[in-house]
Amino acid sequence: MSGHEFQSYFPESGGVDYSDTSTAIDDRAIAELRQLAGRYPQARSALLPMLHLVQSYDGRISPRGIEVCAEILGISTAQVSGVATFYTMYHRRPAGKHHIGVCTTALCAVMGGDILLEKVSEKLGIHEGETTPDGLFSLERVECNAACDFAPIMMVNWEFMDNMTPAKATEILDKLAAGQEVQSSRGATITDWRSAERVLAGFDDGRADEGPTAGEASLRGLNLAQERNWTAPAPGSTTASAPAPSQEKK
Ligand code: FES
Repeated sequence: MSGHEFQSYFPESGGVDYSDTSTAIDDRAIAELRQLAGRYPQARSALLPMLHLVQSYDGRISPRGIEVCAEILGISTAQVSGVATFYTMYHRRPAGKHHIGVCTTALCAVMGGDILLEKVSEKLGIHEGETTPDGLFSLERVECNAACDFAPIMMVNWEFMDNMTPAKATEILDKLAAGQEVQSSRGATITDWRSAERVLAGFDDGRADEGPTAGEASLRGLNLAQERNWTAPAPGSTTASAPAPSQEKK
């Protein structure tokens, strides 16, 4: 082995920023965190949603958020920050009003995900893991979002933007910057990242059914099966009801 140091390529792998003690966690937030803890037979199971709620108040995992979660759950602050720094959905620095994710996993990459990330990064003037100086956008490279049939995918506050191109992404970012309404391809109208974090914490905003839930590409197999009268084999049977290939519609 040479004397080279191992170079980490995870710019966000540092700990929580304890130098920033600002917080918006108030009595209402503490009551809601307690409410989340009360939803589980073992209160500790509530830690993940509680951390999402901390993010909805503070825009990041704040030192005060860690302290309050630890107090409510009766665990150490080290245990809370260990969880908060393990999962990439928890931010140690303030995320933007709109958090943009671009998928560059295999299928999205093949369909242009890397170019999309490069163009979005250029457009926003920031690299992945950064937030714009005006606090409007933050950018992250994300792993497969289970939407490969709509690759390449861009996420805005965890809502899907399907079949993205640099031009479509630019239009969406311009609209968001101008405060105009933007509709997810298969989800609700875009609000902001903190509101989305509140929903992830388990506080329903009543908009879960806005927008189509399944797109044409996801339903293609089902539609083909229905057109061709294919059905699943009965339980215990090994014979499917699909007609012989020669009988199928061409
Ligand atoms: S590879 Fe991007 S959603 Fe699956």
